[in-house]
Amino acid sequence: MALFRAIESSLPARRRLFEDPFARQFLRPRFALLARLCGVPGVADLVSQYIDGRWAGARSSAVARTRLIDDIIAEALAQGLDQMVILGAGFDTRAYRLPGLSDVAVFEVDHPDTLAKKQAVLRHASLVAPSCVRSVGIDFTSADLDRVMDAAGYSTQARTFILWEGVTNYLTEAAVDSTLRWCARAASGSELLFTYINRAVLDDPESFAGTETLFATLKEAGEQWTFGLAPAELADFLRQRGLALQQDIGSSEYRARYLPRVSGVMRGYEFYRIAIARVS
Ligand SMILES: C[S@@+](CC[C@H](N)C(=O)[O-])C[C@H]1O[C@@H](n2cnc3c(N)ncnc32)[C@H](O)[C@@H]1O
Repeated sequence: MALFRAIESSLPARRRLFEDPFARQFLRPRFALLARLCGVPGVADLVSQYIDGRWAGARSSAVARTRLIDDIIAEALAQGLDQMVILGAGFDTRAYRLPGLSDVAVFEVDHPDTLAKKQAVLRHASLVAPSCVRSVGIDFTSADLDRVMDAAGYSTQARTFILWEGVTNYLTEAAVDSTLRWCARAASGSELLFTYINRAVLDDPESFAGTETLFATLKEAGEQWTFGLAPAELADFLRQRGLALQQDIGSSEYRARYLPRVSGVMRGYEFYRIAIARVS
């Protein structure tokens, strides 16, 4: 994700969907060099073409999703927001780069090992986290969110936007269940945006283009996708956990919205989806 964001950020302002000036800091040296080279006219397009040819839809889906989530956060900010929680924040830098978030308490929640890595990278790049950012270490499988978030100063009375991007597919159903139930205890009217994969890609990978290479790469990286949901069952699944589904957007839709010129010919990653729910 950091590489995709860095490549997109290297494009001229009129062509890019967003600018994440920090993404490059999180890359290993050879990828950081590649991202730097993408600043040379034409190189970003060549690199993108290579990535798109090898991992169908992964990059385009990721950059369109980043922009969509940025836009949704901007809307939430315009409506008034007291808190933002980024569950599984990883190398997400929205708290550092999105105007408006500096006035909101932002909780970056992740595994302690990932948080330590992020902080080391930020220190190395002499980047100081805005004072609004609070780091909260947790393992989602421990079902301990209530306790650690209370200790970090999270309020269940404040209007909150919770972002949970790129994580549910790595968890167990029990961890997803307990985390969603925790989200539903936010103040009424609060919003949750999370990504999930269509369960069909786990049950029958061949029914989606490009999964063979993708799954091989995940295996090589020691990452395994373990959890998915059937879009048709999503509303019920959320309702049972105190959340009302507002929108369920597939990557073909958000690619068409932000990359209209190429979305018609772009294949792959159709199983990756964004759900937006409201605390009912
Ligand atoms: C693919 S990254 C997504 C990061 C970020 N949200 C983004 O979209 O760039 C998945 C994140 O989930 C975190 N994660 C995965 N399993 C976890 C667990 N059991 N407890 C806490 N964090 C976990 C990882 O540390 C990592 O930061």
